[in-house]
Amino acid sequence: MSHIELGCPRCGRSRAADMSDEGCLDCGSPLDVVYLAAGKTLPGTDVPTPIHEPRAMVTLGEGNTPCVLLKALGERLSLDGLHAKLEFMNPTGSFKDRGTATMLSVAREFGVDELVEDSSGNAGASVSAYAARAGIKSHIFVPAEAPEAKLRQIRAYGTEIHPIQGTREVVTEAAVAYHRERGLVYASHMLSPYFAEGTKAFAYEVVSQFDGIRPDHLVFPVGNGSLFIGAYNGLREMVASGRIDKMPELHAVQARNVMPLVAAFNDESWGPDDASKTVAGGISVAAPSRQWQIVDILGKVGGSAVAVDEPGILSMQRHLAEIEGIFAEPTSAAAFAGLEELKKAGVIRRDDTVVVPVTGFGLKDEAPT
Ligand SMILES: Cc1ncc(COP(=O)(O)O)c(C=O)c1O
Ligand SMILES: [Zn+2]
Repeated sequence: MSHIELGCPRCGRSRAADMSDEGCLDCGSPLDVVYLAAGKTLPGTDVPTPIHEPRAMVTLGEGNTPCVLLKALGERLSLDGLHAKLEFMNPTGSFKDRGTATMLSVAREFGVDELVEDSSGNAGASVSAYAARAGIKSHIFVPAEAPEAKLRQIRAYGTEIHPIQGTREVVTEAAVAYHRERGLVYASHMLSPYFAEGTKAFAYEVVSQFDGIRPDHLVFPVGNGSLFIGAYNGLREMVASGRIDKMPELHAVQARNVMPLVAAFNDESWGPDDASKTVAGGISVAAPSRQWQIVDILGKVGGSAVAVDEPGILSMQRHLAEIEGIFAEPTSAAAFAGLEELKKAGVIRRDDTVVVPVTGFGLKDEAPT
C-alpha cells in the first residue's frame, strides 16, 4: 500500500496517488500530497517524501544550498539580518531541481518512460536533466523567445525541445494538446503535487541553518508558487511537530507587468489582458493554476503580496552582483526589489531576520543592462 494519497487543498477530497495531471474531481484545484503513513524521508534528512523508495531516488545532489548573510545589501536596505539562500547552486542552476528530483523519482516508480513538460526555461532545463538521468524521454515545450542561454541548456541534456511562438499560456496549450494526442504523461511543474512537495526541503534547511530558530520573514519571487507552497508546507509540518514555535511571515513578489496574485490578494482589479512583458520571465504567469492556494496561504501567514517595476528589478540585479558577488536572474532579483518595498512599508523591521532565495543563476538569462 502506498504511504501517500493526493488531496485537494480547497475542498479536501482525496484520491489514490497517480501521475495524472487531473486536478480535484469536485472543484478542479491542483492537488497536494497527503501522507497516510510516516517513515519515508529524503535520503540523509528527516523530510517526509512521497517517493516510495527514497534510496533509489533520481538525484544529482540537489539541496543543501548555502545561506549567507548579506551585509552590504542589508546596510543599504537598513536590515541587520538579511540572508540569501543560494538556490542557484542546485545542479541545473535553479531551485527547480528540488521539485524535479521528487517528481521524476515518483514518475519512474509509476513506470513512466516518456513525458511532456512546458516551461519558461528553468523547469525545462531541470526536467530535461533529471529525465536524462532517469532514462526517461522528455518533450519540453518552451516559448520560442525564451533566453537563448536557457534554450541551449535545455537542449544540452538531449530532450526533444518544442519552441512555440506566442504567450506563455499558448505554450502550455501546445504541451497539453501534445500529451493528450500521444497519451503521454504531462509532468507539469505547475500542476504536479510531487513537484511542490519536493521543494519543501528548502524550508527544513533554512530552519537547520538558523540552528532550529525560524527566521521572521521569507520573501519569494512567485509565479506558479511551487517554492512558496512547498516552503509553507514544510514550515507547517515543522510547526505541527513542535520543531519551530510558529510560522514565519511569507511574502510573495511579482513583477508589476504580470501581477495576478498581488491583485487577487490586495483586491485590485487586474486580468491576464493587462499583462505585459517583464524581464522577470520566471514569474511571468498571468493565470497561475494554484492562485487560490497561494492567496489562501498568504492570508493564513499574515503575509503580503507586492509588485515591483522593471527598473527596480534590474537595479537590484546589479546591486546583488556588484556589492554582494551574487549574479542572480532578474526573476530572483525581483524578490529583493520586493523586500525593499516591504521594508519601506514597515512590514519588515530593521532587526528582523529575513531569508530570500536566490532562485536562479544570472548566467541563464539576459545579461544585466
Ligand atoms: C528563477 C526563478 N525564480 C522563481 C520562479 C518562480 O517559481 P514558481 O513559478 O514555482 O513560483 C521561477 C519559475 O520559473 C524561476 O525560474
Ligand atoms: Zn477540490
